[in-house]
Amino acid sequence: MKEQLEKIYNSASQDLDNANSISDIESIKAKYLSRKGEFNEIKKNLKNLSDEDKRIVGSLANEITQKLEGAIKTKFEEFYNKELNEKLQKDKIDITLPGKSVRMGNIHPLTSTTNEIVTILQGLGFSVVPSIQSPEVETEYYNFDMLNVPKDHPARDMQDTFYTKGASNVVLRSQTSGAQIHAMEGKKPPIRVISPGRVYRNEEVCARKNNFFHQIEGLYVDKGVTFGDLKGVLNEFIRIYFGASRPTRFRSSFFPFTEPSAEVDVQCIMCEGKGCRTCSGTGWLEVLGAGMVDPNVLRGVGIDPDVYSGFAFGMGVERFAMLKYAIDDIRLFFNDDERFLNQF
Ligand code: DAH
Repeated sequence: MKEQLEKIYNSASQDLDNANSISDIESIKAKYLSRKGEFNEIKKNLKNLSDEDKRIVGSLANEITQKLEGAIKTKFEEFYNKELNEKLQKDKIDITLPGKSVRMGNIHPLTSTTNEIVTILQGLGFSVVPSIQSPEVETEYYNFDMLNVPKDHPARDMQDTFYTKGASNVVLRSQTSGAQIHAMEGKKPPIRVISPGRVYRNEEVCARKNNFFHQIEGLYVDKGVTFGDLKGVLNEFIRIYFGASRPTRFRSSFFPFTEPSAEVDVQCIMCEGKGCRTCSGTGWLEVLGAGMVDPNVLRGVGIDPDVYSGFAFGMGVERFAMLKYAIDDIRLFFNDDERFLNQF
């Protein structure tokens, strides 16, 4: 039996020497050491031996089994490490290679300015109207008629409107003020809304003017709204947007849909009031028009001007952006020059 054990051990060692892979080793383990393996077959026969022989052969069997287990383990680790190294070598990633940079777009300065203005006005209690109530292609009815600008009134020429060819009463809106009418039609005050959007005017393009630009319309109608409320909201807005130190002025003005009307100017940031091409020598840039909603406008949408009053304002987004970031030419916003846009 002793010889038999040694014979098995020698043949197992030989098999191990010939093994080429982890799977070879696993078959060797199964062949010799598993429950049905060759060593176990021998151990089963131990019971037929004398006590003395049982002891000698039994301990030899254990010794040989342990030796074989050790040899198998060593061999297994050798192959395991070899295979792992080969795999690591094959899948190697060169982390020193420079990455491919992903080009990220920036938020356009007019979008961020609009967002900033909207956020401030929301903080002052205004909510943004759904865009469906603020179409860019508009009928004269909303762009003019309902805003107290009668047909043939010279005020229609104040804003050089783009008319469409399809229907004579359809225009590219010249102002966001039509959104006021959409916001009031069929509704009961209190109404406190803003509406940002693009407007179009047939103007000669220059540093201060483009043939399309952006406005944010505001409207507040309720019982007892006063001109003092209007000034309070606009002053607070300007203080938050520009900071307290920027000189501004309130100037009386005329708009057909407000009475009384006013405009707000902010000192030109480019020349600090001395006069330059951006402010066409005046030292000031007009940033918004405003006023108390004309009783005719309220009446038109079925709101009784003896019960309710309101104020409205229309802000020029480009002007606000130019004055904050010292941009001296409105055309820079629209000609897609990356050297300009990447600064924001
Ligand atoms: N719609 C005017 C414009 O484009 C600006 C304006 C003036 C809007 C007075 C208003 C307002 O809401 O009350 O020049």
